[in-house]
Amino acid sequence: EETTVGIIGGGPAGLLLSRLLHRSGISSVVLESRDRSYAEQRQRAGMLEQTTVDVLRDCGAGARMDREGLVHDGIELRFDGRSQHIDFPTLAGGRRVTIYAQTEIVKDLISLQLSELSNGAPLLFDAEVHSVSGLTQGGEQATQETGSDSERPVLHYTYEGRRRTLRCDFVVGCDGSHGISRSALPASVARTYEREYPYSWLGILAEAPPSCDELIYAHSPRGFALHSMRSPSVSRLYLQVPNGTDPGEWPDERIWDELDARFALSDDQEWRINRGPITSKAVLPMRSSVTEPMRHGRLFLAGDAAHIVPPTGAKGLNLAVADVAVLARALDRYCTSGDTAALDSYSDDRLRRVWRAEHFSYFMTTTLHTSPDQSPFDTRLQLSQLDRIASSRAAATELAENYAGLALVD
Ligand code: FAD
Ligand code: DHB
Repeated sequence: EETTVGIIGGGPAGLLLSRLLHRSGISSVVLESRDRSYAEQRQRAGMLEQTTVDVLRDCGAGARMDREGLVHDGIELRFDGRSQHIDFPTLAGGRRVTIYAQTEIVKDLISLQLSELSNGAPLLFDAEVHSVSGLTQGGEQATQETGSDSERPVLHYTYEGRRRTLRCDFVVGCDGSHGISRSALPASVARTYEREYPYSWLGILAEAPPSCDELIYAHSPRGFALHSMRSPSVSRLYLQVPNGTDPGEWPDERIWDELDARFALSDDQEWRINRGPITSKAVLPMRSSVTEPMRHGRLFLAGDAAHIVPPTGAKGLNLAVADVAVLARALDRYCTSGDTAALDSYSDDRLRRVWRAEHFSYFMTTTLHTSPDQSPFDTRLQLSQLDRIASSRAAATELAENYAGLALVD
């Protein structure tokens, strides 16, 4: 079997890349190790930057998002018992963000792809890739040797109980943070930069109407809390908890009481979270990680396979979408004209944006969370920074531009 682009992983990055390539007439195959319902149910991100919305809409995957997505003009910061609205359209050149769950994006992309199966963009579930062979040692220059069959990478995978191979012109690793593609980069060229955080998030979904119009990011002496939403009747809420927390330690009542305590406003004793049945409860660890370069010869990395951010600021999914949007254009340019310039600059171009998002996510995380060893001095610094954002247009603009998202290219 063979294809132009072999895609490892059918998360948002892999599915969207396949869709974008299909629109350019470039063949691809997506190999996803899990089954369809697992891929569609995995609870994850929900906040989409303007650019992400535009990419999904432009490739024909935006119809339900346009109907059901919740468009937001900003966020609310709560700290020191007070509240500050950060208005994105005013501060970030008219940009807005949209709440639409990753689970729904994945469902939309899968159903589009499967309905187009006959056109030759296969998506295989329960297809686990074990290794990539045939990668040249040519690193950045390898595309210039296109045409030589011996230089083509091969994916080795298992499907329906049989080991199989897929010969590709290019391989894109979209297999997330636990995938295998990153390890196909030779140790001599790859470098990973990492940071762990001394806290996790307890995330819940609740059948309760959101208690606010906009997302609330709260700094409190009891730790961080975030109020997000999934629809007019479903709230998504997160609480900072210690690493290693067992969700069983958090019965529903304890979660609601803690959320009320962390979101409390000093001048509004009445403000309370709307409560309702909790339908999902999970603890998420937090990590920052970047692997460089994002390309070796005919292998490219995209999304969580190349970089992880802590969730504060909601950059993970948006970075994954931006990676594949840029890569799809570069592959299109190469397939149309043989021009390798965009493929050759993919890694450097994306890493520049990736590091910006890494810094922003780190900044949001460390400004809003309470470390186990936090001193009163550290807390004063956090409150000073939050007060600066609340009182200076320059500081608020910096936050708004990063949150609402930068353009794909300068
Ligand atoms: P993934 O979504 O991880 O997809 C990778 C796919 O590859 C998976 O379907 C996997 O099954 C498949 N795969 C792995 N190995 C193989 C293999 N060997 N062969 C074949 N297939 C393979 N971001 C936010 O912005 N906000 C959030 O609130 C948020 N919450 C998160 C909560 C959790 C628990 C996690 C893990 C991430 C969260 N993120 C969040 C990050 C965001 O969900 C990711 O950035 C996004 O999923 C990245 O998409 P991706 O396609 O690169 O990777
Ligand atoms: C969501 C998650 C985030 O990490 C964030 O910063 C904002 C929203 C969410 O799941 O809705």
